[in-house]
Amino acid sequence: MIAAGKFITFEGGEGSGKSTQLRLLADSLRAAGREVVTTREPGGSPGAEDIRALLVQGEVARWDGLTEALLHSAARRDHLVRTVWPALSRGAWVLSDRFADSTQAYQGYGHGLPLDTIAALTGIATGGFRPDLTLILDLPAADGLRRANGRGGAEDRYERMGTAFHERLRQGFLSIARAEPGRCVVIDASRPIADVQAAVQAAIHARLTAEPGR
Ligand code: TMP
Repeated sequence: MIAAGKFITFEGGEGSGKSTQLRLLADSLRAAGREVVTTREPGGSPGAEDIRALLVQGEVARWDGLTEALLHSAARRDHLVRTVWPALSRGAWVLSDRFADSTQAYQGYGHGLPLDTIAALTGIATGGFRPDLTLILDLPAADGLRRANGRGGAEDRYERMGTAFHERLRQGFLSIARAEPGRCVVIDASRPIADVQAAVQAAIHARLTAEPGR
């Protein structure tokens, strides 16, 4: 696939404000005249949304770590094929609420699945395709869980996995950012929404729109 648009992913723990920041960025990019597609994982295509229901609802222990990673990878493949790649090839900017780093953080650092197993699955599902930019919204796990629990709803399977699980995946996201500084920007999400939004805009400008020749 030849990508003409840009693929930007938002990552972070529960209650980190990804969805709000994604919406704000989409609004500002649209105001600047770009075609923007907002999407999410697990989900973002009809088939992947069906798989999402299997993952985010029900008993905490309903899947083991490897089955979970396989389901997320299958959903990711369908999302790429049906939604992300077609949008990028027509020149849209695609903003995704989560992508492959979530599998590394949740199933790898959270559930303890070997990272090379996850890298292999992700490689199969994505064919090596990666985001142009990943914004990691970081805050202490307990603070994020407090925010997320206030939301209620049926999609709380992961929220019920305990604070230690969520602190491990927070450290996972920070390790990913250290390993891939060219792709990832860590943003302190404990600040007010407007301050986080300004940091997101600064990252977009520095990493994408200010790039020579673009
Ligand atoms: P959301 O609440 O951000 O929509 O995401 C749904 C849940 O799925 C969230 O708790 C994180 C989890 N998740 C994984 O465990 N692995 C993954 O690869 C993805 C994309 C999400």
